[in-house]
Amino acid sequence: MTPRQPISFIRATPPALPSLQGGVRVALEDIEARLDADASLFRQHRFDGTELDKACAARWLSQRLPIPPADRILVTNGTMNSLLILMATVVGPQGVLATEAMTFPQVKTLAALFGIRLVGIECDEQGLRPDALEDACRSGAKPVALYVQPTIQSPTATVMPLARRQDIADVARRHHVMLIEDEAQALYAQDVAPPIASLAPESAWYLMGLSKYLSLGMRAAFVVAPSASAAKDVLARVRTLSTWHVAPLVAELVTRWIRNETAHALFSAARDELHARQALVREVFGDLTQFRGSHGLHFWLEAPTGYSGEDFTRAAGDAGVLVRPSELYAVSSCTPGIRPAIGDSPDREALLDGLRTLRAVFDRLATHSRVTKRGA
Ligand SMILES: Cc1ncc(COP(=O)(O)O)c(C=O)c1O
Repeated sequence: MTPRQPISFIRATPPALPSLQGGVRVALEDIEARLDADASLFRQHRFDGTELDKACAARWLSQRLPIPPADRILVTNGTMNSLLILMATVVGPQGVLATEAMTFPQVKTLAALFGIRLVGIECDEQGLRPDALEDACRSGAKPVALYVQPTIQSPTATVMPLARRQDIADVARRHHVMLIEDEAQALYAQDVAPPIASLAPESAWYLMGLSKYLSLGMRAAFVVAPSASAAKDVLARVRTLSTWHVAPLVAELVTRWIRNETAHALFSAARDELHARQALVREVFGDLTQFRGSHGLHFWLEAPTGYSGEDFTRAAGDAGVLVRPSELYAVSSCTPGIRPAIGDSPDREALLDGLRTLRAVFDRLATHSRVTKRGA
């Protein structure tokens, strides 16, 4: 018997959409048809996006924010690229950056490049704790900025309620800490509070990449600066380096997709599929107190008592399910667990198979420790 291929829950990518290829083809044909008239588009830098790119970015962002003025918007080559710019300029080499106690691993990589010191802030079931942020602000290592994911946090899948967002905005304001808010998955959330950036616009850089909504290969993100002058200052420092400029072909495609609503149609297909997948996840894990579901690309599962995230990951791998351990995300303290991502499975059947295997692994480990079931 051929051994079964491992099922990967590692990459937090939107589900593969057959309509994506069609959308790319139509946009490229359209660009090609206008090449003679628009040839100059590819003969010059696009910097932080054209006026039309920014108008389209504003339209996309209006799903979460009051429409921002164009002079506060930057169109970039993705969230990580935007974070690189902000680390180099807003935080600055050797600066101190606060993050959730477990955060986006690439933030750790970027911080290391600039010698930036990360301070992990404790979290609870509502996300980052404002009192812990306040303590950090009063300490000797006061952060210059806070990188935060209030909506469907990775890895813990927490979603901050409004009061929590207001409290964080308040601490940031009082201590002059700049917020760097990443809403990589917020459009998937249901009945969610507004971004912190809309509560404290003057204290926040807001980031929304398209990777998690359309496709990891899009490499485009929209950034909203706290003010036109902040945007101008950051741009002035990197303007001559073409490595920061949004790739014209990508910007052209994204702008077309937003104008003709292809982006909205692709995203809503991804959202419908993901929500159906998250319902399957809830069926398999919903009885466990260690489980936190979401409406996004991943969920969170604490390891049974006595096991590390790495132990749990190893046991899941031995059973043919690949996941990421909490340790990968840890800045300071780490709650042992895993972050399974559900978009990459080819279909719901394969997903369910992997989820059931993962549940069996959890149950087996839990019989050697204490497990608490809801209602037990
Ligand atoms: C928290 C978070 N933000 C943003 C991104 C996407 O980054 P980019 O827009 O550079 O693809 C990811 C995906 O890796 C992520 O996990």
